[in-house]
Amino acid sequence: MSIELLSASIVGDVVQIAWQDGRTMVFPAIWLRDNCRCPACRHANGQRLFEITDLPRDLAVKQAAIQDGHLQLVWAPDDHISAFTASWLVAHELGSDSRATRREQPVFWDRSLIDRLPVADWSALRADTAVEVGWLDQYAAYGFGLLRNVPTEPGMVEVVGNHLGFVRVTNYGSLFDVISVPKPNNLAFTAVGLGVHSDNPYREPTPGVQLLHCLESDAPGGDTLLVDGFHAAEILRREDPAGFKLLTQLPLNFRFRDAKADLQAEAPLIKLDFDGAVKEIHFNNRSADTLNAPVDLVAPWYAAYRKFADILKRPEMELIFKLGAGDLVVMMNERALHGRTAFDPSLGRRHLQGCYIDKDGIESRHRVLRRQLGLSKDLAA
Ligand SMILES: [Fe+2]
Ligand SMILES: [Zn+2]
Repeated sequence: MSIELLSASIVGDVVQIAWQDGRTMVFPAIWLRDNCRCPACRHANGQRLFEITDLPRDLAVKQAAIQDGHLQLVWAPDDHISAFTASWLVAHELGSDSRATRREQPVFWDRSLIDRLPVADWSALRADTAVEVGWLDQYAAYGFGLLRNVPTEPGMVEVVGNHLGFVRVTNYGSLFDVISVPKPNNLAFTAVGLGVHSDNPYREPTPGVQLLHCLESDAPGGDTLLVDGFHAAEILRREDPAGFKLLTQLPLNFRFRDAKADLQAEAPLIKLDFDGAVKEIHFNNRSADTLNAPVDLVAPWYAAYRKFADILKRPEMELIFKLGAGDLVVMMNERALHGRTAFDPSLGRRHLQGCYIDKDGIESRHRVLRRQLGLSKDLAA
């Protein structure tokens, strides 16, 4: 697309830009001044040097013009000068279409993804940034990724976690063993099947990413189930808009208790961002506490909860595969809901190790590696 600026005009408290291809864009004056790129307003590291209260209360654009392909503004009352490149203006434009294309676009999936799982070899990923970026691109789009041939040594899950981000220590430790044990404090540590769920909704903040590394897997059963919670939420939104809305509004308390911990947090089952896009799913029947809601909302909430759970159980939604020794799955905990089929511990061993990392760490790594490869879309300067 053409990014040649043609003209600029002041219309009330906005600046209107015309481009040579005929498009126009509107930028609020206060927003432009707050985003001034000049050295008095921004440190060389990109951080803002002033506070909102430092700006004149009677701020106004005195002159707006196109100079050397830039938008140049002169401000009243302080005669401050701001300049914006055409590419910066395009990258930050506030029109709804531009805002929509800038958001991270999840790629919804279902059972059929089995033929094209997002997968990379652990040593290849370590050796080649392009491989890692390709894998992280898929992780970002699908909400999970698989790594193969991770050495089957205890503790490797933490090594991978600290490669991708920063391991979060919890009351389970920095890593936990998922293995059938006597007197388990959590059903995860038994051989029973587990419906798909997000982990630890009773934490604030909830762990953003879970890693599970398979060390041994020769027990019959114990297949991994993954369901795209964002996809399921969109189906609910389409099929039962009122129920969907209720699940985004009414919070549920989640709780975990054992001898040493008593963890509680509240969250709606489906969390939306300002624009109505699904951001998080909190779904865990084992740790769902008693719903505390106005009487007239209880039955409708349960109907919606039931409907959402039915969608999550639709066979076409379930991606089923068996983790073999050396496989490691990295999941966005509040999107790629996970579960497992039952297994028979008397006929073989099943031993996984897991850990949590936060979302921001792995997302930061993704951006930094993209920058190193010259793929960054960041036009902050
Ligand atoms: Fe889990
Ligand atoms: Zn400035």
